Amino acid sequence: MDLMEYQAKELFAKHGVPVLPGDTVDTAEAARAIAESIGKPVVVKAQVKTGGRGKAGGVKLAETPDEAVARATDILGLDIKGHIVHKVLVTEASDIDKEYYVSFLLDRANRTYLAMASVEGGMEIEELAVERPEALARIAVDALVGCDQAKADEIVAAAGFPADVAAEVASVLVSLWKVFVEEECTLVEVNPLVKTPDGRIVALDGKVTLDANAEFRHEAVFAAYADVAAEDDLEGRAKKKNLNYVKLDGQVGIIGNGAGLVMSTLDVVAYAGEAHGGVKPANFLDIGGGASAQVMADGLEIILSDPDVRSVFVNVFGGITSCDAVADGIVQALAMLGDKETKPLVVRLDGNNVEEGHRILAEAAHPLVTVVDTMDGAADKAAELAGAK
Ligand SMILES: Nc1ncnc2c1ncn2[C@@H]1O[C@H](COP(=O)(O)OP(=O)(O)O)[C@@H](O)[C@H]1O
Ligand SMILES: [Mg+2]
Repeated sequence: MDLMEYQAKELFAKHGVPVLPGDTVDTAEAARAIAESIGKPVVVKAQVKTGGRGKAGGVKLAETPDEAVARATDILGLDIKGHIVHKVLVTEASDIDKEYYVSFLLDRANRTYLAMASVEGGMEIEELAVERPEALARIAVDALVGCDQAKADEIVAAAGFPADVAAEVASVLVSLWKVFVEEECTLVEVNPLVKTPDGRIVALDGKVTLDANAEFRHEAVFAAYADVAAEDDLEGRAKKKNLNYVKLDGQVGIIGNGAGLVMSTLDVVAYAGEAHGGVKPANFLDIGGGASAQVMADGLEIILSDPDVRSVFVNVFGGITSCDAVADGIVQALAMLGDKETKPLVVRLDGNNVEEGHRILAEAAHPLVTVVDTMDGAADKAAELAGAK
């Protein structure tokens, strides 16, 4: 789960990463009291889960409480890369001498953790990585040892932090590693980490991704930071229905049973899609072993409400839940969805009681359902239907 900046900074503060005082508001007028209590110039910052807020006009300086209200008025309601601003952080404005970058993340390709650091922070790190890769130090962090003092010193040296800030930045890295481990994150990033003119080191921005697999150990944090607005999206709705759903970029909706089968279904659809204008799978959805009609209906409903989806491929291997039960489920699901069902479905059944499954689908003769016997053939048909529009 991605956190907003203010949430990331709450976790930073909890583990000793230096941040500036501030609070969030969701009405402009409420910004006044925060600005007054801070008693210095403030920065009003859009709280949305995307970077580049500064460039998009979502980060503004306010010298007085009146100005804070005016800037909050400007920023609330802005659309930043498709994210509407419902909340702003009003935080102390800092003088900035230098902007740095530091992060820890999971390096899946190398099966380790990775520290990244640069004395050229502030700009988007993806740009820096492309334009000046030599300016971005990358140091592996052993999971068993973690970022101790020695590792922090190594990172600081590799990135070329000047001597006057080296010790302080190393200490921030050790604290940031604590956030990473104790909150069970897959990413913690500070961009910019700044040096103030009086020589202090402060995290002005924060990005944290919590590992959703560890939610059961951090229920309070997850509950506190769950973003109600974002839960209206497809993944949030699927989660509420206990569906194993991941949104992808393509146009062919996928339903299967068993993670392995669904993964290979994504592969065959991506491959088949090359012959049909490059269509791709639109999602991962594993409805598991006991695919009742209700689960099938829930899954279909989520997938069909994805505006990117143009066809759906249902790929089920009958096991404990036999193919006739799955076929019943599909027929009932289509009946439950009624007129909402307007996109073509390609169904491939195999395994336990497949003949009966096919008979049920043939008898129902739903106009939008095409039954194809092989996985490759069904993938090709679904891709064709998605590519045709
Ligand atoms: N509290 C602050 N005081 C002064 N300048 C700030 C403050 N917060 C952010 N900035 C400036 O605004 C820029 C963008 O803010 P940041 O929080 O990094 O948002 P984003 O990365 O989404 O653009 C920072 O690089 C920094 O220069
Ligand atoms: Mg930033």
